[in-house]
Amino acid sequence: MKVTVFGIGYVGLVQGAVLAEVGHDVVCVDVDAHKVERLKQGIIPIYEPGLESLVRENHAAGRLDFTTDAAAAVQHGEVQFIAVGTPPDEDGSADLQYVLSVAETIARHMESRQIIIDKSTVPVGTADKVGARVAEVLAQRGREDLHFDVVSNPEFLKEGSAVADCMRPDRIIIGTGSEHAEEVMRELYAPFNRNHEKIIVMDVRSAELTKYAANCMLATKISFMNEIASLAEKLEADIEMVRQGIGSDPRIGYHFIYAGAGYGGSCFPKDVQALIHTADSIDFDAKLLKAVEARNAAQKTVLFNKIHQHFDGNLRGRTFALWGLSFKPNTDDMREAPSRVLMEALWKAGAKVQAYDPEAMEETQRLYGNRDDLTLCGTKEAALKAADGLIIVTEWQAFKAPDFDFIKQQLSQPVIFDGRNQFEPKRMARKGFKYYSIGRCV
Ligand code: UGA
Repeated sequence: MKVTVFGIGYVGLVQGAVLAEVGHDVVCVDVDAHKVERLKQGIIPIYEPGLESLVRENHAAGRLDFTTDAAAAVQHGEVQFIAVGTPPDEDGSADLQYVLSVAETIARHMESRQIIIDKSTVPVGTADKVGARVAEVLAQRGREDLHFDVVSNPEFLKEGSAVADCMRPDRIIIGTGSEHAEEVMRELYAPFNRNHEKIIVMDVRSAELTKYAANCMLATKISFMNEIASLAEKLEADIEMVRQGIGSDPRIGYHFIYAGAGYGGSCFPKDVQALIHTADSIDFDAKLLKAVEARNAAQKTVLFNKIHQHFDGNLRGRTFALWGLSFKPNTDDMREAPSRVLMEALWKAGAKVQAYDPEAMEETQRLYGNRDDLTLCGTKEAALKAADGLIIVTEWQAFKAPDFDFIKQQLSQPVIFDGRNQFEPKRMARKGFKYYSIGRCV
């Protein structure tokens, strides 16, 4: 099938590459000419395991191309994916200007019946807006004869395992009331729907809400555990024991119940805010979602508070080794990363940071530039040199079994602040460390 994808971000690029991999003929469009040129040379703009080879191989095989020529791209596809960003507006609502401008572009250049697929995470009612915009432009062109359907087909991939998630989705949500659109979507996704039925067809609005509900449910699980972790500290209990104790109930499950330094990334914070905003806009008070968001904002300060308290509020002139800058492992993405809130608080208190991350060093440099109070280190060992303490914010594999004797030698005092509960408190005490973690005051 001939496929066009608008927007070469995380979702668009991964989706495009994966559709090409199973044999579809895919053209990806973006307004960023530099990005398009680099992709043609096999240079991909993000770090994502497995993506580079997938892009290179499918581009070389002629199944995956990149262009800035929107008109030609629209004419290429039988289906048109909209996978552009929906950044939060100042008030937290999703900004739809890019989505609607792609809708307009499609309407301006389409010459045959089209299926327009909303892949971006968009508020309930967006498909209607996209449909209205397309109809408007077709009317201006005097081409009301051209049929089109707008389908909501949200994406559930996770950064760091995006290719695998997209190749083996656990569900494929198709929101449409049109039999024709359903048939085309089933054909498009047939290669991913072989062993058991993963396609769930529903009305457009339910599909749009499903995406937000999924992310908000996961964010809620995390905020709930973070709250219980804070309680556990006060009650002298251990959140890791509690986690195992409740996770064994299949109705709760072991996934997404890890207390930590707060959730970050481009999805949870934005989507929780956007659903709160949607609720507000219809005069519905989304009390639970507001609490989830407030808990997370507070959680991002928990590690700093522990550091502040340990040093009796005297952080001026101190230096900290910081391991892990990305919002989670296996990505270089630092959007809404807890590390940023922490570093900014440390700087404000007059402390210096010696930071290391396996992938996010360039991104850190881009975000913070050259500042006297930030040293970007080439290795995790270099970050430790003469620091007053080690802070772990992201649970990269490379941080899981460090040389504790070496850490002790390097630090001016043996103290570790661990925002991801990577080590056993008793073992750390035996090794001679003052060890702070989240919710493990035992
Ligand atoms: C999330 C969802 O997991 C995907 O299903 C969804 O498709 C995606 O958003 C999206 O809407 O595009 P992602 O943002 O890549 O994916 O990251 P997650 O792996 O979900 O992690 C989010 C944050 O939660 C991270 O900061 C992570 O450290 C934190 N987290 C996760 C916890 O603090 N505790 C946990 O138990 C799990």
